[in-house]
Amino acid sequence: MSLTRRGLLTLAGVAAAAAGCGRASDGPGTGRLLTSKALPARFTAPLPIPAIARPVRVTADADHYVLTQKAADVSLLPGRTTRIWGYDGTFPGPTLRVRAGRPAVVTMRNELPVPTSTHLHGGVTPPDSDGFPTDLTVPRGYSPAPPTARQVHDVSRDYRYPNNQRAATLWYHDHRMDFTGPQVWRGLLGLYQITDPREEALPLPRDDRDLPLMICDRAFEEDGSFAYPSHDMAMHRPGARGQFVTGVFGDVILVNGAPWPRHEVDAARYRLRLVNASNARRYRLALEAGGKRLPMIQIGSDDGLLPAPITHTEIIVTPGERYDVVVDFAALPIGTEVTLVNDFGIGTTAEVMRFAVARKAADDSRVPDRLVPAAEPPLTTADAVTERQFDFRYDEGRWTVNRQLYDPAGSLATPRLDTVELWRFTSDFHHPVHVHLAHFQVLSRSGRSPEPWETGWKDTVDVRPYETVEVLAKFAGHRGKYMLHCHNLEHEDMAMMANFDVI
Ligand code: C2O
Ligand code: CU
Ligand code: CU
Repeated sequence: MSLTRRGLLTLAGVAAAAAGCGRASDGPGTGRLLTSKALPARFTAPLPIPAIARPVRVTADADHYVLTQKAADVSLLPGRTTRIWGYDGTFPGPTLRVRAGRPAVVTMRNELPVPTSTHLHGGVTPPDSDGFPTDLTVPRGYSPAPPTARQVHDVSRDYRYPNNQRAATLWYHDHRMDFTGPQVWRGLLGLYQITDPREEALPLPRDDRDLPLMICDRAFEEDGSFAYPSHDMAMHRPGARGQFVTGVFGDVILVNGAPWPRHEVDAARYRLRLVNASNARRYRLALEAGGKRLPMIQIGSDDGLLPAPITHTEIIVTPGERYDVVVDFAALPIGTEVTLVNDFGIGTTAEVMRFAVARKAADDSRVPDRLVPAAEPPLTTADAVTERQFDFRYDEGRWTVNRQLYDPAGSLATPRLDTVELWRFTSDFHHPVHVHLAHFQVLSRSGRSPEPWETGWKDTVDVRPYETVEVLAKFAGHRGKYMLHCHNLEHEDMAMMANFDVI
């Protein structure tokens, strides 16, 4: 850990560092970790595509999957081995691909040395399967039982996912109280794709022209192991001003587990499912070829397809967010290299991966003018039955929501099932605010329109320093205890979370 940057921060320093909002995010003292050995060459590793999980059993009412959380030694960097904690021992874990309306039961076996809780991010999931931070699955021989646990399962448990929701790119990850940051950093993350017949009927690029890109930054020690600040609780103590108060940043960008990969593509349309699975890093992504930016045709956001496509040249993706875009490589000469760049990075973090246009090919895909039927008008303030404010703030050395640290037994709101509420998020810093269960639409950003890509159904929103972001959230599917929190995983671990009860 000798090469990690350390230093105490004041709130002024924190705000200036403004995680990901500019170059300062890579400066010293902002929680950036440096890989201690020479970095691997960029754009040489092939892009891995995570394996698709196969059901172990198909019954009348559900598809059954088994995933084992375990340590494994894998090669993420050339010539080095990294001990990961992964679902089925892979980084990222297997992709679950399910159809809307068809339930899945996922048995999670814990063969790690630590308790876990698994959350399906974006899932409309019953509360007891939602990965509540104190619903722990405890490995064999682990003692003592965690005193704060709400539920304890020995070794394995079943998560029930009804999948009664739109076609969308979700992801699953660890959600253990106080340890989400380190456990996700070590590899407890994977993709979960929901399809539905309406989406399947669209002429969008498919099969190997439908690429998930799960992007996360990591830092490595000389021996190939992950670098992460001390896992002890000192940084979580109220009043502790940890050096990682801004979150933890690495200098190696992984896409589907490979550092700055290179992927050969046909001169054709591709669907790219952009997922920011980083602990704390924000990206402004663009596709660049020969100094020009390619249009990205956005077709979806976190929780479903947009009514109609929208074209951008850049998209800001904050931790937890997903954006679904189509890119057309057909107009580019064979041999063109297209780089996925990150405007918010410097040095090694300014580039993410590269596409190489390798060959001409037939392409019968297209992006239709309408993606979902007009039957679903956007929510308006008139739909909201009530308004609530959640203030995300650094308060006396602690990351708080409404000036409170997380209390697993507490609750800040009681929305009624099948209603819409206007939720107002205010902030002193960058906080990617994520709401469990409820999908929302972004209404405004400090009184102005949201960013052009922040349309459609979402569950995570980029709340920036001193901004007020209003969303219209629809509480549907289940009653019970859920949570909202900052998806900067270190902020989350420092208790920047709150519960709400759907009644
Ligand atoms: Cu993706 Cu509660 O988290
Ligand atoms: Cu979630
Ligand atoms: Cu935060």
